[in-house]
Amino acid sequence: MKLRVAVLYGGRSGEHEVSIRSAQSIMEAMDRSKYEVIPYFISKVGKWSPGPILPEPGAAAGIDVVFPVLHGTFGEDGTIQGLLELADLPYVGAGVLGSSIAMDKEVMKRLCRERDLPVVEYLVLSRSDLDADAVCRRFAFPLFVKPANLGSSVGISKVRNCAGLSAALELAAQYDRKVIVERAIEGRELECSVLGNDEPVASLPCQILPSRAFYDYEDKYILDQAQFKVPAELPAEKIEAVRHLAVECYRAAECSGMARVDFLLEDATGRLYINEINTIPGFTSISMFPKMWEQSGLPYPKLIDRLIELALERHQQKKATRFTR
Ligand SMILES: Nc1ncnc2c1ncn2[C@@H]1O[C@H](COP(=O)(O)OP(=O)(O)O)[C@@H](O)[C@H]1O
Ligand SMILES: [Mg+2]
Repeated sequence: MKLRVAVLYGGRSGEHEVSIRSAQSIMEAMDRSKYEVIPYFISKVGKWSPGPILPEPGAAAGIDVVFPVLHGTFGEDGTIQGLLELADLPYVGAGVLGSSIAMDKEVMKRLCRERDLPVVEYLVLSRSDLDADAVCRRFAFPLFVKPANLGSSVGISKVRNCAGLSAALELAAQYDRKVIVERAIEGRELECSVLGNDEPVASLPCQILPSRAFYDYEDKYILDQAQFKVPAELPAEKIEAVRHLAVECYRAAECSGMARVDFLLEDATGRLYINEINTIPGFTSISMFPKMWEQSGLPYPKLIDRLIELALERHQQKKATRFTR
């Protein structure tokens, strides 16, 4: 009997097209002797085809496990995960809480700080109170301004002086009620993949070399000029430090299944900072998440096997939990 895997892709977020590419590459890599693949496409306005998964347990009788391949809002943020919990379906990746924590860069930073994990100095402003002068007094430039929730570098600016700050705050505030201002780190960008439920393990890290002032939307999805080094060329102890912090961050954010943890390594000090964590990282043919695992000895089809195993394992564990007296 083959395992019937529903792959959810597309979706209402700005990362709709990337999700389609990620899902295509996942479906190609899935071992068809083990899995029957059932694609579920979600349009940009949120219409499901062939039809929606309903929230009642037992309603999706033809599905054994779900692989949500939806990046960003309404997919990576705990919303779809909530639907799948209601439907009592096992699914790949983080649960409701881990997904929503990871989506909110500010909550994520707070949880890291609570465990003494290194995050860059930051300030939070609300849309209703964007006080540029207060920021100018408190921080030295350059700064990064970003919406707390979102991805793909949308709404993010690097600001070089006080004069540019208001416009950057206004832009970020269009995408979220909560805006983060943080010190710009001059240095290298690293990423590290994590897999697991109770015993998460980290891959070898990679390095991103953006072709622009920072790793912005154009660089991620349009220009195709950013470069990557897998594994990152770093001294062995730095590699180990990245892997250790990636797992600690994963635990702090209560993740399960998988995540990709992104870092900034400061040139001047050699300090590592956790930048963010992504619970449904890119899976396109050029994406780093599967590449890092390949370099770490786990080829793409085996990675998918592992993700599905972890999904089933977590669902089993949940079944052993009592929800009533
Ligand atoms: N504090 C920072 N210092 C230096 N570069 C940063 C900083 N914050 C963000 N960046 C740059 O902006 C990019 C996007 O920011 P990030 O926080 O990762 O948001 P997203 O969720 O949109 O990927 C990063 O990949 C990096 O190139
Ligand atoms: Mg990022």
